Amino acid sequence: MVALDPLELLFGGMGKLGPGSNADTLQALRSLPKDHFDLVVDAGCGAGRQTLVLATALGVTIHAVDSHQPFLDELRRRAEDAGVASRIQTHCMDMSDIPTVFSSIDLLWSEGAAYNIGFADALAQWAPALRSGGFVVVSELAWLSDAAPAAARDFFRAGYPDMKLTTENIRLAQEAGYRVLGTHTLPRAAWIDDYYEVLEPRATTLASHQDAAVRALAQETLKEIEVFETAGDSYGYVFYLLQRS
Ligand SMILES: C[S@@+](CC[C@H](N)C(=O)[O-])C[C@H]1O[C@@H](n2cnc3c(N)ncnc32)[C@H](O)[C@@H]1O
Repeated sequence: MVALDPLELLFGGMGKLGPGSNADTLQALRSLPKDHFDLVVDAGCGAGRQTLVLATALGVTIHAVDSHQPFLDELRRRAEDAGVASRIQTHCMDMSDIPTVFSSIDLLWSEGAAYNIGFADALAQWAPALRSGGFVVVSELAWLSDAAPAAARDFFRAGYPDMKLTTENIRLAQEAGYRVLGTHTLPRAAWIDDYYEVLEPRATTLASHQDAAVRALAQETLKEIEVFETAGDSYGYVFYLLQRS
């Protein structure tokens, strides 16, 4: 019997594996007080939507790090189509190991991925790999209000109990040795366009799949989308623009 990969069935072929948009990536990039970076790492790059934006905008090699090889293969295909393959080097590895592979990083980018090793732990672990004055741009799910609807609080208490208020994440970044240059909250369209609008019909089909793990992932995804539709602006994805002190 062919092994089923629930992630591949739900996300396969998608360029965007989390909330975000090219316009928001560029807005964050252009908010930095510098526009040339020699060593750039994209941690948890996935299929590389933001990697392609960085490669095009910066014109230097982007070191794309992810622990799931099929996502890196998808990134490579997309980079070839976009004509930027020569500027992207993929590394199948754990983002916790970045300091053992890279040093003197100028810009460490990470969209929707740091939570996998914990936001505060990621910032602490990456700090020694940055050059002095180097930048980290990281997006992270956060509460935007301390009065979120019960359905949202219950969903994330189970799915992401570590989720913090933006103000708490700012404090954690400062405690990890970074200067916070600014924040940028993604608009709701960045969750819907090319992401929830693709996932919802896929998950609806997969919710009655014969494999229990596939059904569970699909049902969890549909619940997440339902919570998003009813929770207003009580939570969001926030970019933190950081500079190592
Ligand atoms: C939600 S996706 C975001 C991908 C991409 N940045 C985007 O916004 O489309 C999170 C990514 O982190 C990767 N990932 C999870 N844990 C990881 C780890 N410990 N080291 C490296 N990559 C990891 C996953 O394989 C996945 O590609």
